[in-house]
Amino acid sequence: MTAAPLLHVDKLTISYRINRDWIPAVREFCLQLQPGQIYGLVGESGSGKSTVALALMHYLSSNGRVESGGVLNFAGEDLLAKSNADMRRLWAKRIKFVPQNAGAALNPSIKIGRQVTEVLKAADGIEGNAAYDAMIDMFHHVNLVDPERVAERYPHELSGGMQQRVTIAMALISNPDLLIMDEPTTGLDVTTEAVILDLLRDLIADRHTGLIYITHNLGVVAQLCERVLVLYAGEIMEEAEVHDLFRQPHHPYTRGLFNSVPKPGQSKHQRQSASADAASQRLCLRRPLPARH
Ligand SMILES: Nc1ncnc2c1ncn2[C@@H]1O[C@H](COP(=O)(O)OP(=O)(O)O)[C@@H](O)[C@H]1O
Ligand SMILES: [Mg+2]
Repeated sequence: MTAAPLLHVDKLTISYRINRDWIPAVREFCLQLQPGQIYGLVGESGSGKSTVALALMHYLSSNGRVESGGVLNFAGEDLLAKSNADMRRLWAKRIKFVPQNAGAALNPSIKIGRQVTEVLKAADGIEGNAAYDAMIDMFHHVNLVDPERVAERYPHELSGGMQQRVTIAMALISNPDLLIMDEPTTGLDVTTEAVILDLLRDLIADRHTGLIYITHNLGVVAQLCERVLVLYAGEIMEEAEVHDLFRQPHHPYTRGLFNSVPKPGQSKHQRQSASADAASQRLCLRRPLPARH
């Protein structure tokens, strides 16, 4: 018997209002995430990755909506039926999000240390020295040098990479059941990225967190994820075990994604022609079917 999924998403269509029309940005998105599973979500810029993440979180902007007819269940509960007050309780502890833009996720007028310890208070009622010690410990885990000084700073006093590590620490510290990370290591140096990927792997193994990891880096997918889902222009192109996808990508678009990854010794021209092939394959995919007579 397979375990009940942590997250069950079926036929989720997400639209944005442009002038007076609602235009679908993601169509019929489906996903089953088990506790302790790491799912990669890949696709080029504009393919709808962040839109999926925001919809799963209930964080869509006011001009975005989930269309009726879809399913979004978390631990057996219908998230689409939840009020913002209900969602706030889930956001406090069980569902955490690391957004693409780490700086914007931090409150500019509150010192870093207080922002992180407030998360622990809201999640688990942990305060005072215990909260401070847990924060310093987590800062070490995400490779932040001199954590005590970082805690005393305001967000604008940190580099982008440090802000990103603080945001990751804030998401991990409450031991969520579900973690959604939107390109969390973009802009980090490769050493810190490797540390974060190791940390995530350990966390998932120890605590059975379900992780959706958004990236356009196929190398990271290969290192971290068990399954992967490829999005193009708001539609799922392929969904597979990572090993299977790397051994034999079925879809022309997925093959195009692989071809556009630079290989040692390949010239810029060769890479450009591989990308052009991928682009023409995508155009073929998007061409409407011929009318039947
Ligand atoms: N707030 C918004 N209002 C209108 N359109 C949006 C908004 N956010 C994203 N989009 C559009 O939705 C599509 C998917 O965008 P996004 O989810 O950000 O892609 P990705 O994260 O894969 O780069 C794009 O065409 C983008 O222009
Ligand atoms: Mg995005």
